[in-house]
Formats: sequence, C-alpha cells, structure tokens
Amino acid sequence: MKTNLAADRKMILAWLRETSEEKLDTLWRAADDVRRTCVGDAVHLRALVEISNICVRQCAYCGLRAGNAGIERYRMSGGEILQCVREANSLGIGTVVLQGGEDYGLERDWIAEIVRRIKGETPMAVTLSLGERPGRDLEAWRKAGADRYFLRFETSDLDLYGRIHPPRASRPINRIRMLRRLQALGYQTGSGVMIGIPGQSHSSLVNDIVLFRRLDLDMIGVGPWLPHPATPMGSGGALFRCSSDEVPNSETMACKVIALTRLFCPEANIPSTTALAAVNAENGYEHGLSRGANVIMPNFTPAKYRVKYEIYPKKVLLSHPKSSVEAIRFRIESLGRGIGTGQGERIRRQGCETQRETLLKSTRGAA
Ligand code: 5AD
Repeated sequence: MKTNLAADRKMILAWLRETSEEKLDTLWRAADDVRRTCVGDAVHLRALVEISNICVRQCAYCGLRAGNAGIERYRMSGGEILQCVREANSLGIGTVVLQGGEDYGLERDWIAEIVRRIKGETPMAVTLSLGERPGRDLEAWRKAGADRYFLRFETSDLDLYGRIHPPRASRPINRIRMLRRLQALGYQTGSGVMIGIPGQSHSSLVNDIVLFRRLDLDMIGVGPWLPHPATPMGSGGALFRCSSDEVPNSETMACKVIALTRLFCPEANIPSTTALAAVNAENGYEHGLSRGANVIMPNFTPAKYRVKYEIYPKKVLLSHPKSSVEAIRFRIESLGRGIGTGQGERIRRQGCETQRETLLKSTRGAA
C-alpha cells in the first residue's frame, strides 16, 4: 500500500463510525460501482458441503468447539460428498466448497482422493476450508487439484485473537503465515474476520481491512458474530465483557465492512454470507450484494447433517438445494443481476486500481 496509508485508515475509521443513513448511501454506491467495474454483475454461486463437524479446537465463539458435548458429531462418507458435488454440478454451479471442523480424521490421502475424483468427474473448482492443517496436507491437496483454500484470521488484534483461540498444545501456528504458504503453493487464497466479537475495537477492524489488502487475498468472507449459547463467548463469560469502543455485531456494521473491503480489494470475490442472512433473513443477502459482494454460497449439505453443523444458532430454512438455488436466482435477478457461469475465479484486471482510486477520493471527502 504505497498510497496514503494514514489517510486510508482515517477514512475507514470514519466510515465504521458513521451513523447517518444518507451519508452511508455514498459508501454503498461507491462499493457497488467498484464491484460493477472490477468483478462485473455476475453473482457466483459456491456449493457449500459441510463434510464434518468434528473439531479438535476450542475457539471460544464456535458451536463446533471440541468442548461442546451438546452436539452429535458426524463425518460424511466419500460417496455422500460426491453425491452433493454431482448435484451442484448438475445445477450448473462452478465451485464446491468442502468445509469442516479441524478434523484429523479427514486424513490427508482421503481428502486428496476426493479432490481427485471431483476434478476428474466435473469441471468444478474445489475450495477447501478445513482449518489449520500442516503444510504436507496443503501440498498434497494442491497436487491433487484443489484450487482454493479458505481460512479466516478472525481478527488481526493479537491480544484478542489469543483470548478467543486457546492454542492446541505443541501446535502453535500463525494463520497469516499459513495464508502466505497457501499463496506460495498456488492456491487462490481466502480469509476474513467476524464482526462485533466482544472486545473488538473499531481501530482493530480498520487493521483487518488494511491487512486484507496487504495480503492481496482472492476471497474475503466476513460476517457478524452471532452468540452461540453453548460457547464461553456466547454465554456471556466475564472474559468477554466489552470495552467502550466496541464494534456492534449488526447488519449495518457487516455491510460497512463488506463495502470497505470492496473499495480496498476491488478484484476479490466477496460473499454475501449466511451470517448476514441470519441477522436479516428478509434482505440480508440483497444488502450484501448491493454493497460490494458478488458471491453467494447455497448449502448443499444433506439436511440430516446440516442441522448438526451449528457454528452459530441457525434459523435458515432447510430447503432442498435445488429449490434454494432457485430462490437465490430469483433474488439475484430481482436486483437486475444474474448468476455467473464457469468457476468464477479471481481475475486480475488492468484499470481496476485507477477506478478504485477515483472513487476512493470522492468517498474520502464524504465520510
Ligand atoms: N458467529 C459468527 N461466525 C462464526 N464463525 C464461527 N463461529 C461463529 C459465530 N458464533 C465463523 C468463523 C469461522 C467460520 C467458519 O465461521 O469466522 O472461521
């Protein structure tokens, strides 16, 4: 970031604190303009398959944490996973995301074989999101044909990060380092943060957005933190009481982060996330899509497993993938946009940065 970093930070902070709806319209419009110029009108779908809810980690916010004895654990079979993938492929979806807890029962060679099968049978891109796995696993999966990997760094505030992520003994691993490693292996790399974690300050959120840009991420997923009652953070533990400068976990704050992320990472694929739809079922998706996002991730996990994949309490309807894709198509078309074809990978374009600079200048004055 050779341009004026101090001015950028100041602008981001001002937008994060902005409360005037009228002024915020300027931000939404600028983000939508950059989105249109840099990634176009197509909304890419990613078929999400939640392959295992087993997890060795103890993340203070997540319902899948190892310490939560209140959920029944599952791991999908290879056959079940492939069936979901085939269904997504038959509906014309260009990417499958295999997501799971950090589950070492998902063995390196087993995942590699599934990736090979998907790549052999379909034209789909494969995104993996399986937590902090060792370099050997990441290498093997890339060799097997995996295209993308997604790992949120959750917050760039190291102190807050430490409080919400009890480390696994003997495996201290730095997520930023792992993201760099993924990039070196040739993965399209994605990351992101939660918005409104107790103890998250506005200035740390500014740093998160600046870090998105510095990492030159291909995909950036953000969403509001949603309290899960079976977690230390969601049950209001004293450790997670808040400071005065705290970021709210509201829909508007999530949209501000999506919009600013689009302004700072113009070419990135940015989903309008399920967490955003969870805080505003009626038009959370639409708000995300018209304020910078260009991706939606319909859920293809079989219903009997989906109810057990409770990262946060979900109120999302358990509709069949085909009808949810139809509903999503309708919502996208109502915005005057359409579903993207092909894999919808990140594309580097000339001219994007210039357009971004121009819009940023006008936005800077408005905040
Ligand atoms: N609320 C919102 N997002 C959550 N995640 C985990 N738990 C929660 C929660 N309670 C997000 C994390 C993780 C991703 C898979 O889901 O950012 O990286």
